[in-house]
Amino acid sequence: MTIKLLILYNLTKNMTAQTITTIDFESPEFISNPYPAYEYMRSLNGPYWQPHSRSDIEVPGMWLFSKYDDVVQLLKDSSSISKNLEKVRPGRQLSAFDHIMLNQDPPNHTRLRNLVNKVFTPKQIKLLNPRIEAVVDKLITDMQSKPNPDFATDFANLLPMMVIADFMGVPYEDHQMFYSWALNILCGYDIGVKSTDNFVSYKQSLQEMDEYFAILIEKYRKNPSDTLIDSLIAAHDNEDKLSSIELVSMCMLLIIAGHETTANMLSSGMNIFLNHPEQFDLLKKHPEYMESAIEETLRFDSPVQRGTFRITTKECEFGGKKFHEGEQIVAVLGAANRDPAYFEEPNRFDITRNPNRHLSFGLGIHFCIGAFLARNEAFISFTRIIERMPNIKLSTSPPIWNKKPLFRGLQSLPVTIY
Ligand code: HEM
Repeated sequence: MTIKLLILYNLTKNMTAQTITTIDFESPEFISNPYPAYEYMRSLNGPYWQPHSRSDIEVPGMWLFSKYDDVVQLLKDSSSISKNLEKVRPGRQLSAFDHIMLNQDPPNHTRLRNLVNKVFTPKQIKLLNPRIEAVVDKLITDMQSKPNPDFATDFANLLPMMVIADFMGVPYEDHQMFYSWALNILCGYDIGVKSTDNFVSYKQSLQEMDEYFAILIEKYRKNPSDTLIDSLIAAHDNEDKLSSIELVSMCMLLIIAGHETTANMLSSGMNIFLNHPEQFDLLKKHPEYMESAIEETLRFDSPVQRGTFRITTKECEFGGKKFHEGEQIVAVLGAANRDPAYFEEPNRFDITRNPNRHLSFGLGIHFCIGAFLARNEAFISFTRIIERMPNIKLSTSPPIWNKKPLFRGLQSLPVTIY
């Protein structure tokens, strides 16, 4: 039976009425503005059920949680929830990417995370600042020479790949391949996505990236330098703490997780500032708000809209609903960040919001390892943009959102800078 609901949304000053049957997470309406759908999901008594239509997944669908308190409970729970992918694809051959630490439970997860924790400390990340500043300045100079600059393609989508690839030791000339691999992999990784095209290019890109890293690792083994890949090779060869497949999967995870998420943060952040000129002006006058302004952009349009897959391991209860073993549950971070039960006036963008305990980097043992790096990139970028392009504005050409329901960011953001 199709449930038709007339829902009133009071998201902007204008009241708009809309009918929702089931939510189409790939529709242009959802992609450009998911918040009415999230409001509807939060209004339900329990989680929202979304069936899967992909043949590679054993579970029939997933339960989406959108209230702040429920999402916190899910993310923190590791006693009745697992992130081990073998539980959702039992007996299937797993790719290297399937072994990433995001798909592991302790003690495997703890071992893998400890290996990279030491290079993602604030002290280590700050050493990257001169390099980040140089790239940011170059991208701004390039934008200034363009007649029709596009902040998404000329800045946001370039900086994070340059930073993380450099940090890891991936040659600059190979960046272009990574952009398309990362795009395909992230589309296919979202098991809510229906299109089989995504799934085919996902598998192909995984294989190509797997082969690429196997060759690069051999190269570094013969000619060691001082990169993140070298320290992972040492963990494999000398300390026996990393299997061969884990070594490749760690490289894949770091480069993919470090690029798309941060690109989305930058493009959405710029878009939010330009759509709230009074808040952007306040920031220009009070640069001391930069940190809280960045946190507010992360809350307002979470770059990762949904947490990655989780599966119940025993009878349990979340958000007032009982679950059996083997049910898939998902934390909708973008919806929790706009929950009025937790955030006052959640649809208002306020660079001075304090406290601002958004969930955009997740929570619990899988809390984003790159959060400090991402925040640093945002801080340097927006500080330099305000210094060097204070008159940046939206151009008359419309922005285009990327079409990935799991990730929210812009594919194109035309701007004027003079
Ligand atoms: C604004 C940028 C970023 C956002 C919004 C973001 C968001 C997230 C979220 C939500 C998770 C947890 C997912 C879950 O629990 O299901 C996560 C995990 C992770 N992120 Fe990020 N991320 C960002 C940047 C980065 C960067 C720059 C890196 C660096 C390489 C990175 C590497 C990782 C890794 C390795 C994990 C898995 C951690 C684990 O399983 O213990 N992320 N990220």
